Amino acid sequence: MSKIITVTFNPTIDKSTSIAALMPEKKLKCAAPRFEPGGGGINVARAIKKLGGEALAVYPAGGYSGKFLNELMAREGVTMHAVPTKSHTRENLIVFDRSTSLQYRFGMPGSEVLEEEWRQLLTDIENSGAEYIIASGSLPPGMPDDIFGWIADIARKIKAKLIVDTSGEALKKAVDKGVFLLKPNLGELSSLVGKEEVSHESVDEIAKEIIGRDCCQAIIVSLGSAGARLITKDEVIQVIPPVVKRLSTVGAGDSMVAGVILSLSRGMDLKEAMKYGVACGTAATLNPGTELCKPEDVEKLYKLMSTTGAHQQ
Ligand SMILES: Nc1ncnc2c1ncn2[C@@H]1O[C@H](COP(=O)(O)OP(=O)(O)OP(=O)(O)O)[C@@H](O)[C@H]1O
Ligand SMILES: [Mg+2]
Repeated sequence: MSKIITVTFNPTIDKSTSIAALMPEKKLKCAAPRFEPGGGGINVARAIKKLGGEALAVYPAGGYSGKFLNELMAREGVTMHAVPTKSHTRENLIVFDRSTSLQYRFGMPGSEVLEEEWRQLLTDIENSGAEYIIASGSLPPGMPDDIFGWIADIARKIKAKLIVDTSGEALKKAVDKGVFLLKPNLGELSSLVGKEEVSHESVDEIAKEIIGRDCCQAIIVSLGSAGARLITKDEVIQVIPPVVKRLSTVGAGDSMVAGVILSLSRGMDLKEAMKYGVACGTAATLNPGTELCKPEDVEKLYKLMSTTGAHQQ
């Protein structure tokens, strides 16, 4: 298996709880909280671990919350490399209202990462010996938005394959530098080409245009319950998952990226890797809250997709 590292510039501790009903002014009695490590790349590394693989999670962490984040990662057996920061790692709050069955997600602004700290992260990425680099998630305040472009330069230098899963300017700047694989959803694909929205029909054309500019080798556009579409220079393939009873789509995108890259690192081709990735994304939706995919659900869905021939053009 090739060495995979994930990069998360804006990690968090996700604190989840539930309340009887959301009401202003009153003291709200919360159920015992659950703490989980969070942030794009961190979730991808956790999902890879759950799927029986190994990925090194690289991220900045500071203060008491940073120590706690490292402890939570260690409890899950995820290998990590945390660069110490002066600022405290942020904590997000997820509250489930039992009276309405609605979930509220309170996201804190990211914690500042100083220039010497993010430069250290870049140096460590360069020296990591990675064959796959998954750079995923948002950027904290003050971080230059071409940082994923810098990682693209490093990936080229160390001959690693770079996968970028982010949004806005940070995504645009990474694409300008050239990456191996992109995994945008429809919204991210639209903003990448400066449009308000793109239709399902125009996905192939836009993706081909980006690939034609030599900005990446392949694009997997994730389409929620419609699965995903793989576009390369020579082919277009759609994978549709079985219909499932969805509980929460939180973490679906990260589980999908984990499935795709783990499969590639194990020698599968892109088509099959995408199919496994879709199984992982859909498996994540079977769980409540922030929970990622479970391997037993992934295997069931993947088998089902193989027997029903979920590949379509
Ligand atoms: N409602 C759903 N039913 C079945 N599968 C789903 C559903 N939503 C997401 N998925 C699965 O998860 C994959 C990724 O989902 P999606 O397209 O929502 O990614 P995303 O927008 O990047 O998600 P995230 O919010 O986690 O970043 C899909 O390709 C699909 O396999
Ligand atoms: Mg996503």
